[in-house]
Amino acid sequence: MHRLELTEEEVEAIQLLGREVASRHGSVEEDDFLDSASTYAQELPRRIRRFLNAFRLMEPSGVCVISGYPVDDAKIGKTPAHWRKEPGSSATLEEEVFLNLCGALLGDAIAWAHQRDGLICQDLVPIESHKEEMLGSGSERDLVWHTEDARYSYRGDYIGLMCLRNPDAVPTTFTSIDEVRLDPDRIEVLFEPRFVFRPDPSHPTDNKREKAPVLFGDPGSPYVRFDPYSMDRPETEEARSAMDYLIRAIDENLTGVALLPGECLFIDNYKAVHGRSSFKARFDGTDRWLKRINIARDLRKSRSLRKAPASRMLL
Ligand SMILES: [Fe+2]
Repeated sequence: MHRLELTEEEVEAIQLLGREVASRHGSVEEDDFLDSASTYAQELPRRIRRFLNAFRLMEPSGVCVISGYPVDDAKIGKTPAHWRKEPGSSATLEEEVFLNLCGALLGDAIAWAHQRDGLICQDLVPIESHKEEMLGSGSERDLVWHTEDARYSYRGDYIGLMCLRNPDAVPTTFTSIDEVRLDPDRIEVLFEPRFVFRPDPSHPTDNKREKAPVLFGDPGSPYVRFDPYSMDRPETEEARSAMDYLIRAIDENLTGVALLPGECLFIDNYKAVHGRSSFKARFDGTDRWLKRINIARDLRKSRSLRKAPASRMLL
């Protein structure tokens, strides 16, 4: 995997920058912070900037990890019982700043107005009443692999995850499409706009659909948009068979990484599908806790859905 291990000097520089930014902004949800994130990000150590720039530009891998940021388990407090934020300042603001500044090297963070109150930086924690559900807040069922927000043309280009706590080493699963050996004759139909994408369960108030291809871009190294769990079964046998072929090929290549506290995982949402293995949550403040952001490379593309040029909220 494409991985960067931070040095002690780099960690010190990141913490200094994180504290300064956190003292200027009460929250990473503030417009002021979001407008300045890419400026602050230029002060991150050069190795991080070079690493994420290469990930963005060269597409060496569907996922990458930055490890070595220390998380103080006592300071961050208990794993919250819900993603809805408590009023007041966050005990994890410096961690949120680090994740967001790394993300700002890949693009601009976005949020959906109809998902999780439009939060930019979301807590991925198990919720007791969701434990049987196919959601990021579920636990007892595998979160089946998917492209994030596959139904939407304006979905993020990247997902950033930062692990704060993962005591049971629950893997985040993924398959990079470049790792899958695809038979060109079997996938031709997947490049045609014959596949119907429905909103996934994390967008409960949306009921629109979008017809699009599953694979696009360079046929030799395609981009992928695929979420069989939230897609219609195609009408033709040819399309069904191609879809099943790709499902099997992705399943066979599915791998995973159990993130450690402080590790940031960036998933290229065009080059990899991702999911999560099931786990037994305790709901006692000690469970797995990740922060998540969604990043668009070109905010301008979704201008028709946003109120202002710099607004991050997709309506
Ligand atoms: Fe996801």
